[in-house]
Amino acid sequence: MKSLNIKSNIHNYRVNFKEDLSFLKTFMKLEKAIFVIDKNVYKLYKKEFKTIPKDKLLLLDAIEEKKTLKSVQKIYKFLAKEDAKKNITLISIGGGITQDITGFVASTLYRGIKWIFIPTTFLAQADSCIGSKTSLNFKSYKNIIGGFYPPHQIYVAPIFLKTLSEKDFYSGVGEVIKFALLKEKYPKNIDNIINMVESLKEEKKQLQIIRKTMSVKQEYIATDEFDTGKRNLFNYGHCFGHALENSSYYKIPHGIAVTIGMIYANIVSYNRGLMSKKVFLKLNKQLFLPNIYMKLKISYFDENILLASMKNDKKRVGKKLTIVIAIDNDIRAKKVDNLSFTEFSETYKQLLKILEL
Ligand SMILES: NC(=O)c1ccc[n+]([C@@H]2O[C@H](COP(=O)([O-])OP(=O)(O)OC[C@H]3O[C@@H](n4cnc5c(N)ncnc54)[C@H](O)[C@@H]3O)[C@@H](O)[C@H]2O)c1
Repeated sequence: MKSLNIKSNIHNYRVNFKEDLSFLKTFMKLEKAIFVIDKNVYKLYKKEFKTIPKDKLLLLDAIEEKKTLKSVQKIYKFLAKEDAKKNITLISIGGGITQDITGFVASTLYRGIKWIFIPTTFLAQADSCIGSKTSLNFKSYKNIIGGFYPPHQIYVAPIFLKTLSEKDFYSGVGEVIKFALLKEKYPKNIDNIINMVESLKEEKKQLQIIRKTMSVKQEYIATDEFDTGKRNLFNYGHCFGHALENSSYYKIPHGIAVTIGMIYANIVSYNRGLMSKKVFLKLNKQLFLPNIYMKLKISYFDENILLASMKNDKKRVGKKLTIVIAIDNDIRAKKVDNLSFTEFSETYKQLLKILEL
């Protein structure tokens, strides 16, 4: 499949699409390469990585609690010990967590070194690998530290998805749905999106859907790489979604939290008369609820933690809360800064009913 060239204010880069893992051999031969690999991925694909010398290999725990400056420092330490200089290349292999940590290191070490990213989750392949963001968590605050520094090359091989758990696979589905909703004329093409999502498990379709999702994101970042305007709309589902990741202590993975966040945002639209009942119910019944795909517990939805997290949202500007909502006419998505605490609480109660909690 034809590669995708992404323009960036930092450096342009290319996404290469691969049907098997033979391309990995090229990296094993690179002299100045240091590998940063998700521990689980390393175990599952050990055979592919067997030629990496121990002193060139660093394994990461891909858990949110470790997407922190502490893990970044661990990598600095390792690289310092290796006498690594500006001419090294970091080869990062894993999901969004591995990407965020490696990207942060690559952007800060010697004010920027070369890095290559090989995403191994659905979310990282379809969404996070492009867009330049590197984000770290700080205390209970999600993604509040970071910058912009894209990989120099990306290699997407959907064959990695075969070993992904259902929960992690559906985490990616949440973001794919979001981009499709942002792209398609709302609500006319909802049926197309429903069909597309239903076909996601077919291996033959995955590469095509990943590329399509990526090209929607590419359109937005082309004009707003640094997230000062249009790109804000990617936060549809994320304002409440990030809060839910906190409140569930990351038991709900990112993309599934985003799916639930889109239901939450739509309740706000519906209550404000900005979304018709028909569209609201159809989206919930046919798109969001069938793709949550994990057992939810009421304990994941602590109202106080959710409110505190929404208050801490980095996009919040005023006294009220900020949320990106969808509107079922041509405006599609819109950031609003006037969600009152009472509205937050009423929406929360309606959400629990929809989720049957
Ligand atoms: N930088 C960005 O632009 C951006 C965008 C969206 C999300 N994110 C971040 O990405 C993170 C979520 O990333 P994610 O969903 O890609 O996954 P992840 O990195 O959290 O990994 C999820 C789980 O899947 C495992 N795994 C990874 N690849 C596997 C494979 N091929 N087979 C079996 N198991 C595998 C991991 O070990 C882990 O247990 C969040 O921290 C989110 O904030 C970043």
